[in-house]
Amino acid sequence: MKFFLDTGNVEEARKVAAWGLLDGVTTNPSLVAKEKRGFKEIVLEMCSITPGPVSAEVIAVEASAIIDQAHEIRTWAENVIVKVPLIPEGIKALHVLSGEGIKCNVTLCFSPLQALLAAKNGAAYISPFVGRLDDVGTDGMQLVEEIHTIYQNYGYTTEIIVASARTSMHVLQAAMIGADITTMPFAVMEKLFNHPLTDKGLSSFLADWEKSGLKIG
Ligand code: E4P
Repeated sequence: MKFFLDTGNVEEARKVAAWGLLDGVTTNPSLVAKEKRGFKEIVLEMCSITPGPVSAEVIAVEASAIIDQAHEIRTWAENVIVKVPLIPEGIKALHVLSGEGIKCNVTLCFSPLQALLAAKNGAAYISPFVGRLDDVGTDGMQLVEEIHTIYQNYGYTTEIIVASARTSMHVLQAAMIGADITTMPFAVMEKLFNHPLTDKGLSSFLADWEKSGLKIG
């Protein structure tokens, strides 16, 4: 499973890249707005940190304006992906953009039928928002399972990005389902390393070695 970082913060992306775990980045207007920097500047820096896809979202909600913004964003870097919202005008724009060979990540997906619409119109990626569904008392990961089944039934190549991941369990469940990608905040990625028995085991190994007086080399 690929790991994307869900952030507008380039320092976080650098840290994950240094771990060797950064397969791509997703941004959204809210994440970018928090950074108090230019949108294009952030996206370009992200694109230089990872050779993987970096999603940059359009702000328009009408198809022709979405297409114009997508054309602009697409010129920024080789690995930039245009993020379009899952609304009728977004799906209409997707039809044109995918026909032009522009890779799109269709965002704000909350139902399996929405995901089917995106796949039918050639989305490169679909982003089901699992955490936001959990927030309203609906099982977000069940949506991922349903999308996975539908895409397998028909051989769609649209990659599933498990988005709005809030916990390590979301990442584990995504991997068990066989989702292509999970995009997660830095705080979630950091937690994937943790296990108290690892820390306890390492402390006792180091203490025993210290007492022994042994040396490496
Ligand atoms: C996905 O691409 C979105 O940026 C993101 O995962 C939204 O997550 P949130 O629900 O934590 O804002």
